Amino acid sequence: MKTRLLKDTEEDICIAAKIIEQGGLVAFPTETVYGLGANAMDADAVRKIYEAKGRPADNPTIVHIAEREELGQVTFLVTEDMKTLMDRFWPGPMTMIVPRGEYIPYVTTGNLETVGVRMPENEVARELIRRSGCPIAAPSANLSGRPSPTTAQHVIDDLDGRIDAVIQSGPCRIGIESTVIDMTGKIPMILRPGYITKKDFEEALGQEILLDPTLNRKPREGEDFHPKAPGMKYRHYAPRAEMIIFKGDRIRVEAAIDQERAEREALGQKVFVIDFDEDRETVAAHEIFAMLRQADREGADVILAAALPQRGVGFSVMNRMLKSAGFNVREV
Ligand code: TXA
Ligand code: MG
Repeated sequence: MKTRLLKDTEEDICIAAKIIEQGGLVAFPTETVYGLGANAMDADAVRKIYEAKGRPADNPTIVHIAEREELGQVTFLVTEDMKTLMDRFWPGPMTMIVPRGEYIPYVTTGNLETVGVRMPENEVARELIRRSGCPIAAPSANLSGRPSPTTAQHVIDDLDGRIDAVIQSGPCRIGIESTVIDMTGKIPMILRPGYITKKDFEEALGQEILLDPTLNRKPREGEDFHPKAPGMKYRHYAPRAEMIIFKGDRIRVEAAIDQERAEREALGQKVFVIDFDEDRETVAAHEIFAMLRQADREGADVILAAALPQRGVGFSVMNRMLKSAGFNVREV
């Protein structure tokens, strides 16, 4: 298949919308990461997303809408808490898990009776949804298991020849995926941490909310370990290189990284270091996936990364780093 490279102009967005309408696949920008979109109501179209990405069939996609009115096509239940969160965080990087409306096929939800829904803030994304005339199912536009794409070039590197078109726009503003919050229980629960933090939700709702207890830790031997978002159980965001995260006092971390680097280089290995400023976690969010891809491109054998403090957006970036490293953490 030849992948069409489109621009983010009105004219090209119309071409992209036509492709979606006709059951095709289009990668498009959002403020978090690029998404790989198909008509969420068309089971055959959504099936092609799984094929193109090599994605496990039990990992549900997120349904993207452009306007509040479209929510009725996705779910039948809108609670007061949902309204509060939509008012506060949409359009934006929040995905709510809600009961599945009858027009959303099971392929889209990975056979679940719930569905994830999000209204992106990116205007190209919203215009594409409006012009397509349907909600758009879209996971991140990477090959399954690879770091999420934050530029059009990342999408092309992974999916050229496997999808109908890519809308080439700028780099994504945020750089890590949306926060996924389950609204189907008595108390809302974060299933995937993101740019919107637990504290942000608690301020909006005026109550404490839950975090999936499996987040940011490794399963213990023999433990029944079931992250509530199916996607969170897979090895993910993985560079080809081995990755080690160094955790502890800042000065000791930097010394340990320097020493490890020297030892590895003495063995003839290519070393790639990731060391974000501790209090610049939004910069880390913006850069992390691009850096993992860069390490691969440069043919790194090992990535040495300094841990971030696990607060606010730092917790979310660490979530991606821990998964990339397969929880290979060295306390120093
Ligand atoms: O920022 C984002 O959310 C990006 C852009 C494109 O919008 N999309 C994205 O999709 O990250 P994806 O498919 O890579 O991740 C979706 C996550 C997975 O962990 C999936 O398991 C979870 O959301 N999810 C989706 N529907 C769910 C459901 N009904 N119940 C539990 N988890 C769900
Ligand atoms: Mg993904």
